[in-house]
Order: sequence, then structure tokens, then C-alpha cells
Amino acid sequence: MPQQSTEILAATASGIARAARLLQAGQLVSFPTETVYGLGADARQGKAVAAIYEAKGRPSFNPLIAHVHSAEAARRYVQWNDVAEQLAAAFWPGPMTLVLPLRAGHGISPLVTAGLETLGVRVPAHPAAQVLLRELDGPVAAPSANPSGKISPTTAAHVKAGLDGRIAAILDDGACGVGLESTIIGLAGPDPLLLRPGGLAAEEIEAVLGRKLAERDVHDPLTAPGQLLSHYAPGAPVRLNAEAPRDGELYLGFGPGPCDLNLSESGDLAEAAANLFGQLHQLDALGKPIAVAPIPMRGLGEAINDRLRRAAAPRD
Ligand code: TXA
Ligand code: MG
Repeated sequence: MPQQSTEILAATASGIARAARLLQAGQLVSFPTETVYGLGADARQGKAVAAIYEAKGRPSFNPLIAHVHSAEAARRYVQWNDVAEQLAAAFWPGPMTLVLPLRAGHGISPLVTAGLETLGVRVPAHPAAQVLLRELDGPVAAPSANPSGKISPTTAAHVKAGLDGRIAAILDDGACGVGLESTIIGLAGPDPLLLRPGGLAAEEIEAVLGRKLAERDVHDPLTAPGQLLSHYAPGAPVRLNAEAPRDGELYLGFGPGPCDLNLSESGDLAEAAANLFGQLHQLDALGKPIAVAPIPMRGLGEAINDRLRRAAAPRD
């Protein structure tokens, strides 16, 4: 990916305003939260979200957390329920993420949810993050701001060491207080699930709920949404590396040429990543087998091919 010069912004009113403008313009900005530094992009802009994966060098797409300034803002994107209300009242802003069903008209890029019908939302308590999210007044998708496979950053210096030249800016406000990623609670099913232990102890959540949290069972697809369910697979068979469609197949193209939908006519991998899940959904809705054009293995192509392989894997 092209090198850029990474601005270091102080967490002043003007520094935060600059960070908000960069996010609006589809740029990547690392910002502090009380858990770890996040690598943020506007969650409504698919190409910006794709750039997160490019900057981190992530070989696969995992669902990302959308950061918002308040529970009211979260309710614009997800279907709220009583348990969510109870936990948000007790622990937001704070190191807790809630996974809830997406709401109609949410506007979130499918690359944020990796094609799932649910969204992880979090209201960080960090003052600079709060001001930034209010200034933008939009959802910010952000994984931890480290290159893939490296440890999560808790200072701006860590972020710079890992991502300098790959992102537009780092909003520097010292060290993170919690230093451990948020606790993720799944509220999309009948029982609240502990999807990831983190900066808020499960016992504290259980005390508020007055019941035990079910543990995620990695062998049960229904309770391991970060694992199996995120591997979105269309209902129809998917054939990869297809130079052309066969009779009866829909063709998902890449680069110039005839096709039913095109991931990127110009062969831009970031654009293809941004379109991937949405276009698979669109073709799947037509109920026919899908043939997919070859996607080069460079850059984001690795993650795109990883997802396509999962979509095409044999299933019963
Ligand atoms: O503290 C944190 O949570 C940090 C800061 C930056 O907010 N963020 C963070 O993001 O740790 P990340 O991308 O490293 O972790 C997101 C995790 C993934 O492991 C994913 O499995 C889970 O959240 N997740 C996100 N959306 C989900 C969904 N819809 N269903 C299930 N799991 C989800
Ligand atoms: Mg991480």
C-alpha cells in the first residue's frame, strides 16, 4: 500500500477536530480508548474499512466493533432490548462491547460485520474518544491499532512503531488505562453470552444481570459467532477462480469484462473488499450458483480469497 506521512495529533480541540475531518474524508486515524488504541475508519465507508485490513495486513476479515458516543447513538444501528438497556446503563461508557442484531437502514458497511446480521457496538469512556465520536457523530469501526499478529498498542508510540506511514494520523493522549480489550457480550440470542473476556470482569456483568453468563462454546456454531457464523456462506454453491461463468451460473467479476456484479472494474482490491459481502448477499438472493473471477493474492487479495474460500467450502 502507498506510504503516507502519519500526522501525530495532540488531544486538543483542534487536534481532535482534525482527526474527525480525516475520518470523514475516509482516512484511517488511530485514537485512544481506555482499553487499547483503536485503528479507526468511518464504519459507513466500505473503502475506508477495507483500508483498515490493508494497514494491519490482516489475512482474513473478522467482524469489527463500531464505536459510538452514547447508547442513544448505538440504537441508530442495532435492535435494542431490555438486557442491552440494563448493561448499557451500568457499564457505558466503558470497556464493554454488546453484539446485537442490525437494525433496518443501519448504513454500516458489510465489511464491518464481515457479512453477519449482527453488530458489535461499544461506547468508550476515554475523554478524547468521546469528543472525537461526538464531533464525527457517526460510527467508527476500530480494531486494535497493531499490525496483524502483533500485540495490542496501549500508547501512541506503540501505534507509530507498528503503523507509521500506513495511516493518516495518530491521536496521542498518553497511555490507555485498562490496557486490555473490551469484554464482548453477545445479546443476539436467547441468553447473554460471554464472547470474549476483557477489561470488564464477567462477574461484574453477572452481578448486574443477576444470572450467569453462558460461555462461548467454540464447537457450537450457534455460540461462536466470532468463529463459524462469521464465515458467511451463500446458500448456493460458489465456484472460485472462474475465468468465465458456466451455464446457469451468476458471475461475480473482478476487473473489466462482462459479469453480473463487479467487485472492482478497475481491479482495485480495496474497492473489491468493500463490495465483497454486499455483492455476495445480492447474488445469493437470486438463488443460483455463483462463479467468482480470480482475485490476485497480493495485498487485500489474501483476505478476500480467504473469505471466498470459506464461502465456497463444502457444507452439508
Ligand atoms: O477494546 C476493544 O474492544 C478494542 C478497542 C479499539 O475498542 N477493539 C478490539 O477490536 O479489540 P478487535 O477487532 O481486535 O476485536 C473485535 C472482536 C473480534 O474478535 C470479533 O470476533 C468480535 O469482536 N466481534 C465483533 N463483531 C462481532 C459480531 N457481530 N459477532 C461476534 N463477534 C463480534
Ligand atoms: Mg486486536
